[in-house]
Amino acid sequence: MPSTYDELKRRALAEAQVAGLGGRPVITVGMGICGVSAGAREVYAALQDELKKQGVDAVLHPVGCVGFCYAETLVDIARPGQPRISYKNITPERVPELVRDAVTGANLRSDLALGAWGASPSPAIPNIHEFPEWKHQVRIATRNCGVVDPENTLDYIARGGYAALNKALFDMKPDQVIDEVIKSNLRGRGGAAFPTGQKWKFLAGSPGPVKYILCNGEEGDAGAFNDKALLESDPNTVLEGIILAGYATRATKGYIFIRCEHWLPIQRARRAIKQAYDLGILGKNIMGSEFSFDAAVAQTGESYVSGEETALMEAIEGRRAMPRPRPPFPAAVGLWGKPSNINNVKTYSYVPEIVARGGAWYASVGSERSKGTGLVCLSGDIRKPGLYELPFGLPLTAVIRDVGGGCPDGKKVKFLQTGGPLGGFLPASLMEKTPMDFDAMNATGAMFGSGGIIVGSEDACVVDVTRVLTEFNADESCGKCFPCRLGTHHINQIMSRIAEGKGRPQDMQTALGLAPSLAASLCAHGQLATNPIRTAYQYFKDEIEAHIKERRCPAGRCAAMRSHGSGALAGAGNKR
Ligand SMILES: Cc1cc2nc3c(=O)[nH]c(=O)nc-3n(C[C@H](O)[C@H](O)[C@H](O)COP(=O)(O)O)c2cc1C
Ligand code: SF4
Repeated sequence: MPSTYDELKRRALAEAQVAGLGGRPVITVGMGICGVSAGAREVYAALQDELKKQGVDAVLHPVGCVGFCYAETLVDIARPGQPRISYKNITPERVPELVRDAVTGANLRSDLALGAWGASPSPAIPNIHEFPEWKHQVRIATRNCGVVDPENTLDYIARGGYAALNKALFDMKPDQVIDEVIKSNLRGRGGAAFPTGQKWKFLAGSPGPVKYILCNGEEGDAGAFNDKALLESDPNTVLEGIILAGYATRATKGYIFIRCEHWLPIQRARRAIKQAYDLGILGKNIMGSEFSFDAAVAQTGESYVSGEETALMEAIEGRRAMPRPRPPFPAAVGLWGKPSNINNVKTYSYVPEIVARGGAWYASVGSERSKGTGLVCLSGDIRKPGLYELPFGLPLTAVIRDVGGGCPDGKKVKFLQTGGPLGGFLPASLMEKTPMDFDAMNATGAMFGSGGIIVGSEDACVVDVTRVLTEFNADESCGKCFPCRLGTHHINQIMSRIAEGKGRPQDMQTALGLAPSLAASLCAHGQLATNPIRTAYQYFKDEIEAHIKERRCPAGRCAAMRSHGSGALAGAGNKR
């Protein structure tokens, strides 16, 4: 018989490495992909060596990304009875002095500190809770990111993980779980913002016995990294949400679908699944209940369109990832022809807290129609690139200026490119009056999408960025239907020649005139493919016209324009 939740919790508290327990210093290293790219593995190895060399008895374990990607590699040190201190941009060379001074010595090394997580032990070390990039956050899906050991399920349990599943399995009927999700007004985070509870109700109403829960972690859009971050930093929150969805809809198996090149999310999700089986959280009679559920990781090839829900099912079934016509919808005919529900990684990640704290609690956060939080990935011309969980309704100016710190070198923001390659441009002038909100952003022509915001400063060229987006959309068209196969390439040809200084007077009208044909495409890849050019032209018409009529790139980014003798570009160089 699998262990009960209480037995698991007792074991977890006895064995896990929760900071503060056990009276030893706890050292953690940010080992999400951002940390690993910045050298976290080398830092971790150096810490192992140095602790041994200096004879220090401390707990050392990896964590994922807390969101401050700009400060990686982050090393956190929590001395017994003291607040945790984060040290920024740590290299292996810094490790000996860090261990000597900050782990055991009297010098807390304020020179290396990012800040302390609470009242600061030293006036020279600021309190991170007061940082603008932290103060605005409401951490629900990311509550454990950067804190929990993503490779140790017992650490998750010790911090309250799987309590919501236990509550659902023993104190709630499946329909009550759906009711809470409906009450929460949770909307899908994969792009279309469809109400999640309603979707679950469709699947609950479909006949069994075999039904699937699919978790979409394809995330092939370069500006979004929140799904990867959740899977790398706290895979058990995702898994708990999936199992809860399975219980609510009486499904039998879950697949976490991850792009094959995202090796760290794959590794961590697989490890969480394996440990969940070992602990009796997956498989037969979960935690001693009558509910049984299986889960596995499925991989795609490298194709953006395989994130489209029906293409994803084709990929899991071993065929080319091309969308299927709908209807029938997945809740009726999904994976292997069986009823299925598909949600994004982030969507599932909210569910444990919704079940634990109630749908009404979740709905009390956010704006009128966009409830809860959005996981915003800030990149581009921004001082503090990173991942921030922010309540909907927060003005975009606060997101960019306060949280992200604005553009580097005091430059002005020119635009936000939001919603991924099928999203749009939002000019700085609209940032003032537009909140972070699904509907308010849709009304501008841009969209919140899955949370990627690429910031363009006054130095960025709208034509250049649009060309990159249209090239991506053309390359990624799966080719199954002709409006998209031909239309996305036609748009890209036009944007490329405009960027090369060879634009024709009617080019933008021709490109925009493709919208009705593209609207007839089989999936949203074609249907939304005119968004980037439509919003670029709507807000930056003069800049585009300067490229076409004057053969001039006002921002000085389009390299080809220099050969057309633009005076404005003299000496500007290609800053790309
Ligand atoms: C071209 C294309 C790519 C997509 N890629 C993703 C993706 O990577 N992740 C995702 O969750 N949804 C993606 N979607 C949306 C999915 O089709 C689907 O709406 C989503 O997974 C549903 O989850 P949600 O209700 O939680 O938002 C994509 C859609 C299209 C048209
Ligand atoms: S719209 Fe594009 S991506 Fe979607 S099925 Fe048609 S060709 Fe493929």
